[in-house]
Amino acid sequence: MAGAFDGKVVIVTGAARGIGAATARAFAAAGARVAALDLRGVGPDLPAAAVHAVDVADRAAVDAAVAAVERDLGGVDVLVNNAGIGHAASLETLADDAWERSLSVNLGGPFNCLRATVPALRRRGGGAVVNVASIAAHRMSYHGGPDYTAAKSGLLGLTRHAAFELAVHDIRVNAVCPGPVLTPLVEESTTAEERAVTAKLVPLGRWIAPEDVAAAILFLAGPGAAMCTGATLDVDGGMMVSNGTPYADYARRRGLVA
Ligand SMILES: NC(=O)c1ccc[n+]([C@@H]2O[C@H](COP(=O)([O-])OP(=O)(O)OC[C@H]3O[C@@H](n4cnc5c(N)ncnc54)[C@H](O)[C@@H]3O)[C@@H](O)[C@H]2O)c1
Repeated sequence: MAGAFDGKVVIVTGAARGIGAATARAFAAAGARVAALDLRGVGPDLPAAAVHAVDVADRAAVDAAVAAVERDLGGVDVLVNNAGIGHAASLETLADDAWERSLSVNLGGPFNCLRATVPALRRRGGGAVVNVASIAAHRMSYHGGPDYTAAKSGLLGLTRHAAFELAVHDIRVNAVCPGPVLTPLVEESTTAEERAVTAKLVPLGRWIAPEDVAAAILFLAGPGAAMCTGATLDVDGGMMVSNGTPYADYARRRGLVA
Protein backbone atom coordinates (compact mmCIF):
# COMPACT_ATOMS: atom_id res chain seq x y z
CA MET A 1 0.00 0.00 0.00
CA ALA A 2 3.05 2.31 0.12
CA GLY A 3 2.16 5.53 -1.68
CA ALA A 4 -1.50 4.56 -2.25
CA PHE A 5 -2.65 7.60 -0.25
CA ASP A 6 0.11 10.04 -1.22
CA GLY A 7 -1.14 13.61 -0.90
CA LYS A 8 -4.36 12.58 0.86
CA VAL A 9 -5.55 13.98 4.16
CA VAL A 10 -7.27 11.44 6.38
CA ILE A 11 -9.19 12.17 9.58
CA VAL A 12 -9.28 9.25 12.01
CA THR A 13 -11.40 9.54 15.16
CA GLY A 14 -10.44 7.55 18.23
CA ALA A 15 -6.90 7.45 16.88
CA ALA A 16 -5.10 7.30 20.22
CA ARG A 17 -5.19 3.52 20.58
CA GLY A 18 -6.65 0.25 19.34
CA ILE A 19 -8.16 0.07 15.86
CA GLY A 20 -7.88 3.85 15.42
CA ALA A 21 -4.13 3.91 16.13
CA ALA A 22 -3.52 0.96 13.78
CA THR A 23 -5.57 2.72 11.10
CA ALA A 24 -3.69 5.99 11.53
CA ARG A 25 -0.37 4.12 11.21
CA ALA A 26 -1.52 2.23 8.11
CA PHE A 27 -2.69 5.42 6.36
CA ALA A 28 0.56 7.20 7.25
CA ALA A 29 2.58 4.26 5.91
CA ALA A 30 0.56 4.53 2.69
CA GLY A 31 1.55 8.19 2.29
CA ALA A 32 -1.40 10.02 3.88
CA ARG A 33 -1.24 12.91 6.28
CA VAL A 34 -3.34 11.83 9.23
CA ALA A 35 -5.37 14.09 11.50
CA ALA A 36 -5.94 12.26 14.78
CA LEU A 37 -9.05 13.19 16.75
CA ASP A 38 -9.43 11.68 20.21
CA LEU A 39 -10.62 12.40 23.71
CA ARG A 40 -7.34 11.27 25.14
CA GLY A 41 -3.77 12.31 24.34
CA VAL A 42 -2.12 10.74 21.33
CA GLY A 43 1.27 9.11 21.94
CA PRO A 44 4.40 10.63 20.37
CA ASP A 45 4.92 7.49 18.27
CA LEU A 46 1.68 8.03 16.34
CA PRO A 47 2.61 9.46 12.92
CA ALA A 48 -0.03 12.22 12.95
CA ALA A 49 0.24 15.46 10.96
CA ALA A 50 -2.38 17.05 13.24
CA VAL A 51 -3.84 16.13 16.62
CA HIS A 52 -7.06 17.49 18.07
CA ALA A 53 -8.45 16.72 21.51
CA VAL A 54 -12.13 16.32 20.67
CA ASP A 55 -15.20 14.60 22.03
CA VAL A 56 -16.99 13.39 18.89
CA ALA A 57 -20.30 13.81 20.69
CA ASP A 58 -19.68 17.57 20.89
CA ARG A 59 -20.87 19.03 17.61
CA ALA A 60 -19.21 22.45 18.03
CA ALA A 61 -15.86 20.88 18.96
CA VAL A 62 -16.02 18.55 15.95
CA ASP A 63 -16.88 21.44 13.60
CA ALA A 64 -13.92 23.44 14.91
CA ALA A 65 -11.49 20.51 14.65
CA VAL A 66 -12.50 19.61 11.10
CA ALA A 67 -12.25 23.26 10.04
CA ALA A 68 -8.75 23.40 11.56
CA VAL A 69 -7.69 20.22 9.74
CA GLU A 70 -8.88 21.59 6.41
CA ARG A 71 -7.14 24.92 7.01
CA ASP A 72 -3.87 23.46 8.31
CA LEU A 73 -3.51 20.42 6.00
CA GLY A 74 -5.10 21.96 2.91
CA GLY A 75 -8.22 19.78 2.62
CA VAL A 76 -9.83 16.52 3.66
CA ASP A 77 -10.08 13.37 1.51
CA VAL A 78 -11.06 10.60 3.91
CA LEU A 79 -12.95 10.38 7.20
CA VAL A 80 -12.75 7.29 9.39
CA ASN A 81 -15.42 7.29 12.09
CA ASN A 82 -13.80 4.92 14.55
CA ALA A 83 -14.22 6.45 18.03
CA GLY A 84 -16.57 4.32 20.10
CA ILE A 85 -17.31 3.18 23.61
CA GLY A 86 -18.82 0.10 25.16
CA HIS A 87 -19.78 -1.01 28.61
CA ALA A 88 -21.51 -4.12 29.88
CA ALA A 89 -25.07 -3.53 30.99
CA SER A 90 -28.42 -5.20 30.59
CA LEU A 91 -31.74 -3.67 29.57
CA GLU A 92 -32.87 -3.23 33.14
CA THR A 93 -29.57 -2.05 34.60
CA LEU A 94 -28.56 0.42 31.89
CA ALA A 95 -28.67 3.95 33.35
CA ASP A 96 -30.35 6.70 31.35
CA ASP A 97 -27.15 8.69 31.09
CA ALA A 98 -25.18 5.63 29.92
CA TRP A 99 -27.76 5.02 27.17
CA GLU A 100 -27.60 8.65 26.11
CA ARG A 101 -23.80 8.83 26.21
CA SER A 102 -23.46 5.64 24.19
CA LEU A 103 -25.88 6.84 21.49
CA SER A 104 -24.18 10.28 21.47
CA VAL A 105 -20.70 8.82 20.96
CA ASN A 106 -21.33 5.69 18.89
CA LEU A 107 -23.98 7.12 16.57
CA GLY A 108 -24.08 10.87 17.18
CA GLY A 109 -20.27 11.05 16.87
CA PRO A 110 -20.14 9.65 13.33
CA PHE A 111 -23.09 11.89 12.38
CA ASN A 112 -21.33 14.99 13.75
CA CYS A 113 -18.06 14.12 12.01
CA LEU A 114 -19.78 13.26 8.72
CA ARG A 115 -21.81 16.46 8.70
CA ALA A 116 -18.73 18.54 9.52
CA THR A 117 -16.57 16.86 6.88
CA VAL A 118 -18.90 16.70 3.86
CA PRO A 119 -18.33 20.34 2.79
CA ALA A 120 -14.55 19.77 2.85
CA LEU A 121 -14.89 16.53 0.86
CA ARG A 122 -17.07 18.35 -1.67
CA ARG A 123 -14.44 21.07 -2.05
CA ARG A 124 -11.99 18.26 -3.00
CA GLY A 125 -14.45 16.97 -5.61
CA GLY A 126 -15.20 13.78 -3.68
CA GLY A 127 -13.82 11.46 -1.03
CA ALA A 128 -14.48 8.47 1.16
CA VAL A 129 -15.97 7.84 4.58
CA VAL A 130 -15.53 4.59 6.48
CA ASN A 131 -17.65 3.96 9.56
CA VAL A 132 -16.46 1.43 12.13
CA ALA A 133 -19.57 -0.47 13.19
CA SER A 134 -19.48 -4.01 14.57
CA ILE A 135 -20.92 -7.45 13.92
CA ALA A 136 -23.13 -6.47 16.88
CA ALA A 137 -24.99 -4.43 14.24
CA HIS A 138 -25.99 -7.68 12.49
CA ARG A 139 -27.05 -9.56 15.61
CA MET A 140 -26.27 -8.30 19.16
CA SER A 141 -23.37 -7.33 21.38
CA TYR A 142 -22.10 -9.90 23.85
CA HIS A 143 -19.57 -7.57 25.49
CA GLY A 144 -21.57 -4.34 25.36
CA GLY A 145 -25.18 -3.61 26.23
CA PRO A 146 -28.34 -2.91 24.23
CA ASP A 147 -27.16 0.68 23.75
CA TYR A 148 -24.13 -0.57 21.80
CA THR A 149 -26.17 -2.94 19.63
CA ALA A 150 -28.69 -0.19 18.89
CA ALA A 151 -26.07 2.46 18.13
CA LYS A 152 -24.00 0.25 15.83
CA SER A 153 -27.15 -0.89 14.00
CA GLY A 154 -28.04 2.77 13.55
CA LEU A 155 -24.58 3.42 12.19
CA LEU A 156 -25.20 0.95 9.36
CA GLY A 157 -28.42 2.81 8.59
CA LEU A 158 -26.56 6.11 8.56
CA THR A 159 -23.97 4.52 6.24
CA ARG A 160 -26.62 3.46 3.72
CA HIS A 161 -28.46 6.76 3.82
CA ALA A 162 -25.33 8.87 3.50
CA ALA A 163 -23.99 6.65 0.69
CA PHE A 164 -27.13 7.25 -1.35
CA GLU A 165 -27.35 10.95 -0.64
CA LEU A 166 -23.66 11.74 -1.16
CA ALA A 167 -23.11 9.68 -4.32
CA VAL A 168 -23.98 12.79 -6.33
CA HIS A 169 -20.86 14.43 -4.86
CA ASP A 170 -18.66 11.38 -5.54
CA ILE A 171 -18.38 10.76 -1.82
CA ARG A 172 -18.44 7.05 -0.98
CA VAL A 173 -19.64 5.91 2.44
CA ASN A 174 -18.99 2.35 3.64
CA ALA A 175 -18.71 0.48 6.91
CA VAL A 176 -16.58 -2.23 8.44
CA CYS A 177 -18.06 -4.63 10.97
CA PRO A 178 -15.27 -6.05 13.10
CA GLY A 179 -15.72 -9.20 15.14
CA PRO A 180 -13.67 -9.61 18.32
CA VAL A 181 -10.57 -7.42 18.03
CA LEU A 182 -7.90 -7.56 20.71
CA THR A 183 -7.63 -3.89 21.71
CA PRO A 184 -7.42 -2.02 25.04
CA LEU A 185 -11.25 -1.72 24.99
CA VAL A 186 -11.49 -5.53 25.09
CA GLU A 187 -8.53 -6.09 27.42
CA GLU A 188 -10.11 -3.75 29.98
CA SER A 189 -13.46 -5.50 29.93
CA THR A 190 -12.64 -9.23 29.69
CA THR A 191 -10.63 -11.84 31.56
CA ALA A 192 -7.93 -14.01 29.96
CA GLU A 193 -10.29 -17.01 30.31
CA GLU A 194 -13.08 -15.17 28.49
CA ARG A 195 -10.68 -14.20 25.74
CA ALA A 196 -9.57 -17.83 25.32
CA VAL A 197 -13.22 -18.92 24.95
CA THR A 198 -13.83 -16.23 22.32
CA ALA A 199 -10.78 -17.26 20.27
CA LYS A 200 -12.24 -20.78 20.00
CA LEU A 201 -15.41 -19.36 18.43
CA VAL A 202 -13.57 -17.64 15.57
CA PRO A 203 -13.48 -19.99 12.56
CA LEU A 204 -10.17 -18.50 11.41
CA GLY A 205 -8.79 -19.44 14.81
CA ARG A 206 -7.59 -16.26 16.50
CA TRP A 207 -8.56 -12.87 17.78
CA ILE A 208 -8.67 -10.23 15.08
CA ALA A 209 -5.78 -7.75 15.23
CA PRO A 210 -6.34 -3.98 14.94
CA GLU A 211 -4.18 -4.14 11.79
CA ASP A 212 -6.65 -6.58 10.17
CA VAL A 213 -9.41 -4.00 10.56
CA ALA A 214 -7.12 -1.17 9.40
CA ALA A 215 -6.39 -3.07 6.17
CA ALA A 216 -10.12 -3.35 5.41
CA ILE A 217 -10.61 0.35 6.16
CA LEU A 218 -7.81 1.30 3.76
CA PHE A 219 -9.35 -0.91 1.08
CA LEU A 220 -12.75 0.77 1.42
CA ALA A 221 -11.17 4.24 1.45
CA GLY A 222 -8.96 3.55 -1.55
CA PRO A 223 -9.22 3.23 -5.33
CA GLY A 224 -9.79 -0.54 -5.18
CA ALA A 225 -13.24 0.21 -3.76
CA ALA A 226 -14.05 2.93 -6.31
CA MET A 227 -17.48 1.41 -7.02
CA CYS A 228 -18.31 0.38 -3.45
CA THR A 229 -20.66 2.61 -1.53
CA GLY A 230 -23.24 1.78 1.12
CA ALA A 231 -21.42 -1.52 1.64
CA THR A 232 -20.57 -3.34 4.84
CA LEU A 233 -17.42 -5.42 5.08
CA ASP A 234 -17.30 -7.92 7.95
CA VAL A 235 -13.81 -8.36 9.41
CA ASP A 236 -14.79 -11.16 11.74
CA GLY A 237 -12.73 -14.27 11.01
CA GLY A 238 -15.93 -16.01 9.88
CA MET A 239 -17.98 -15.33 13.04
CA MET A 240 -21.08 -14.30 11.09
CA VAL A 241 -21.39 -17.64 9.36
CA SER A 242 -20.93 -19.55 12.60
CA ASN A 243 -23.80 -20.86 14.73
CA GLY A 244 -21.74 -20.42 17.89
CA THR A 245 -20.23 -23.91 18.04
CA PRO A 246 -16.52 -23.80 18.98
CA TYR A 247 -14.92 -24.19 15.58
CA ALA A 248 -12.52 -26.97 16.59
CA ASP A 249 -15.49 -29.13 17.72
CA TYR A 250 -17.18 -28.73 14.34
CA ALA A 251 -13.95 -29.44 12.49
CA ARG A 252 -13.36 -32.61 14.55
CA ARG A 253 -16.94 -33.88 14.08
CA ARG A 254 -16.65 -33.48 10.31
CA GLY A 255 -13.20 -35.05 10.22
CA LEU A 256 -11.65 -31.81 8.93
CA VAL A 257 -8.82 -32.15 11.45
CA ALA A 258 -7.32 -35.15 13.21
N1 LIG B 1 -12.42 -4.19 19.91
C1 LIG B 1 -13.43 -4.86 19.35
O1 LIG B 1 -13.59 -6.09 19.57
C2 LIG B 1 -14.40 -4.15 18.46
C3 LIG B 1 -15.31 -4.94 17.75
C4 LIG B 1 -16.22 -4.31 16.90
C5 LIG B 1 -16.20 -2.93 16.79
N2 LIG B 1 -15.31 -2.18 17.51
C6 LIG B 1 -15.36 -0.74 17.34
O2 LIG B 1 -14.11 -0.27 16.91
C7 LIG B 1 -13.90 1.07 17.36
C8 LIG B 1 -12.57 1.16 18.07
O3 LIG B 1 -12.58 0.23 19.15
P1 LIG B 1 -11.27 -0.17 19.95
O4 LIG B 1 -11.49 -1.57 20.39
O5 LIG B 1 -10.05 0.19 19.18
O6 LIG B 1 -11.46 0.78 21.23
P2 LIG B 1 -10.40 1.47 22.22
O7 LIG B 1 -11.15 1.81 23.47
O8 LIG B 1 -9.18 0.65 22.33
O9 LIG B 1 -10.07 2.83 21.44
C9 LIG B 1 -11.10 3.76 21.21
C10 LIG B 1 -10.51 5.14 21.08
O10 LIG B 1 -11.61 6.05 20.89
C11 LIG B 1 -11.44 7.15 21.76
N3 LIG B 1 -12.72 7.71 22.10
C12 LIG B 1 -13.69 7.15 22.89
N4 LIG B 1 -14.73 7.99 23.00
C13 LIG B 1 -14.43 9.09 22.31
C14 LIG B 1 -15.11 10.31 22.06
N5 LIG B 1 -16.31 10.57 22.61
N6 LIG B 1 -14.52 11.23 21.28
C15 LIG B 1 -13.28 11.01 20.75
N7 LIG B 1 -12.59 9.89 20.96
C16 LIG B 1 -13.15 8.93 21.72
C17 LIG B 1 -10.71 6.59 22.97
O11 LIG B 1 -10.04 7.62 23.70
C18 LIG B 1 -9.77 5.58 22.34
O12 LIG B 1 -8.53 6.17 21.99
C19 LIG B 1 -15.10 1.40 18.25
O13 LIG B 1 -16.06 2.11 17.50
C20 LIG B 1 -15.62 0.04 18.62
O14 LIG B 1 -17.01 0.06 18.94
C21 LIG B 1 -14.40 -2.77 18.34
